[in-house]
Amino acid sequence: MRKFIVSGGKKLEGEISVQGAKNSVLPVIAAATLCDGNVIIKNAPDISDTYFALQILNHLGAKTTFTANENTIAIDSTGVRESEIPDKLMKKIRSSIFFLGAILGRTGRCRISQPGGCDIGLRPIDMHISALKQMGVKVIHEEEHLDFIADKGITGAKINLVFPSVGATENIIMAAVTAVGTTIISNAAREPEVVDLVKFLNAAGAKIKTDASGRIIIKGVPKLTGCEFKIMPDRIAAATYLACAASTGGMVTIRDCNTFDLDPILPIFTAAGCKVYTYDTSVTLSAGKKLTSPHSLIKTLVHPGFPTDAQAVIMGMLTRAEGVTVFEETIFENRYRHVPELTKFGADIIVSGKIAVVTGVPKLHAAKAESTDLRGGAGIITAALAAEGRSEISLIEYIDRGYEDFEGNLKRLGAEIQRSS
Ligand code: UD1
Repeated sequence: MRKFIVSGGKKLEGEISVQGAKNSVLPVIAAATLCDGNVIIKNAPDISDTYFALQILNHLGAKTTFTANENTIAIDSTGVRESEIPDKLMKKIRSSIFFLGAILGRTGRCRISQPGGCDIGLRPIDMHISALKQMGVKVIHEEEHLDFIADKGITGAKINLVFPSVGATENIIMAAVTAVGTTIISNAAREPEVVDLVKFLNAAGAKIKTDASGRIIIKGVPKLTGCEFKIMPDRIAAATYLACAASTGGMVTIRDCNTFDLDPILPIFTAAGCKVYTYDTSVTLSAGKKLTSPHSLIKTLVHPGFPTDAQAVIMGMLTRAEGVTVFEETIFENRYRHVPELTKFGADIIVSGKIAVVTGVPKLHAAKAESTDLRGGAGIITAALAAEGRSEISLIEYIDRGYEDFEGNLKRLGAEIQRSS
């Protein structure tokens, strides 16, 4: 079992660049299924989820090359004929659901296994199904499988999402780009990664725009072409490294960010006593003498609210903040699995339903803990870096799904962290 050995208590200092966004590259890889011609994706993060997504594309019949040291993917989807994602691949990566709209658009059919519950909640796909039905897609539930059939083509529709789901919005967009007619999505997700997907599709010849009320309007085109596209910076990875620095009382600069994408997160660092400066594409954080509770509820919300993906790393950081901090998780129903692990380091956290109450402790001590999920694992490392002594964090495969060279970046900032098998 792979693990990280962390010798905590060292202030992080220095500069690093942030990787390309996991939550952008995955739907963009899926969307490449729709393109006739060569797609070049730059700034693609070298993370295991990228490889899983490419495995799906290869299975469908595309030719893919990932030059990881240049963070560049080349995709040729001309040969895509297959329309089923096998269970094995479906289980490996939750984001395989993002292939649904693209495969349907490309082949008129798609067969997937029912995505089950996962590490952070049930994650049903009822909104995806209901929207596709409105677009003329027939859906057949067969034991553990779902068949989506659009033999007569997909038709544009007016879709009003009951909740601005990121995945449902992205799937509808992908199904709609080559549909007949116009699709209008009301109450669509506005996360920056959705915007990035739209930019990619438009670069490939799609006709997508957003109106003043945030509705996404997709005018179907006969086909998409190849294109070259650069993935946006990963705002959650940037927030993670800032939280690690704040947790250790350090001072770091994260380069190559979209600083405005960090607007929902940066005020929490300031309220916790850190100084934060943004300049062009860089963010510099200097921790104060001690962290204090931000004294306002940290509630996860859809964009432009505080993102659920940053909840665990901010919690890891605030375990040592003087005072009491209250979190409310409103997006996922099971996203506090890192809490019992954080308490192993001496953190004082009580969870009741959607609420977690963190009472800051002056010191954390070293511990043996497990990554519970991708961001939960990063939150545990955030605490381990501040805990004096030698900690062991296992199940780091979760962390590898979303962070490129996590320990390398932390080492560049002066952390003592080793990977051991
Ligand atoms: C995406 C992100 C994930 C992030 C989340 C919320 C990717 C690869 N993943 O996940 O990192 O945490 O957005 O910002 O981009 N829901 C339903 N029915 C549906 C669809 C969703 O009930 O049909 C619920 C989910 O169970 C969840 C909530 O809506 O409780 C939000 O889910 P959604 O926005 O769809 O998240 P994902 O696209 O899965």
